[in-house]
Amino acid sequence: MFICIEGLDGCGKTTQAKLLAKKLRKSHNAVYTAEPSSGKIGTYIRKSYLYGEKRLSIVLEALLFAADRIEHVENEVIPALNEGCLVISDRYVYSSLAYQGAAGLSLEWIEKVNAHALQPDLAVFIDVTPETVMNRLKPKKSVMETLDTQKKVREIYLKFVEDRRLTRINGDKSENEVAKEVCKVVTKFLDAFR
Ligand code: TYD
Repeated sequence: MFICIEGLDGCGKTTQAKLLAKKLRKSHNAVYTAEPSSGKIGTYIRKSYLYGEKRLSIVLEALLFAADRIEHVENEVIPALNEGCLVISDRYVYSSLAYQGAAGLSLEWIEKVNAHALQPDLAVFIDVTPETVMNRLKPKKSVMETLDTQKKVREIYLKFVEDRRLTRINGDKSENEVAKEVCKVVTKFLDAFR
C-alpha cells in the first residue's frame, strides 16, 4: 500500500507522517519517505530553489517536481513496495496539483505530466487554516510561504476533498489528537483490504 500525507506548509504533516510510520512499523512494515525527495533533483529543489529569491517559471517548477517524483518512485517507493512495506509519503502528486495549480497551471496539464507517477492508494489531507500556518514560527519561510499562496493551495486541496480523492483530517488540534485521527483513518482503510 502506498499512502501520502498532504497539507499546507507548517500544518504538521511531516511530524504526523513520521509518527504514523513509527506506529505502523511493526504491524505493517511501514516506512517514511518524502517529497521533494533526497535524490539529485529533490536536493536541488530543496537547497537551491525553495529558499532562493523568488519562484522561477511555473512550468519549470512543475516539471522539476514531476521529475523528482519519477526519481522518488523509481528509487524509493517501488523498491520498498516490492519488499512488502507500507510506504508513507510526506507529500506527493497532490502537492503539485495544489501548489502549481495555485500558481496558475491547469490541473489537467499537471495530471498529464505526472501520468507516469504511481497512483497512491490513500491520500490524507491535514487541514489547518492558512492564517494559522503563517503565524507559526519558522526561522525562514520558503518562496511558497505567503498567505495568498497558502490560501489558494488550500482551496485546491479542499476541491479534492469534495471529489473524495483526499480524506480530510482537522489538523487544528493537539499533535496527539491529530495523530490518533490519522491512525484511525489509515488503519480503517488498511483493514478494509485484509
Ligand atoms: P516541504 O514539505 O515543506 O519540504 P521540507 O520539509 O523539506 O521543507 O515541501 C517543500 C515545498 O515544496 C512546499 O512549500 C510545497 C512545495 N511543493 C510543490 O510546490 N510541489 C510539489 O509537487 C511538492 C512535492 C512540493
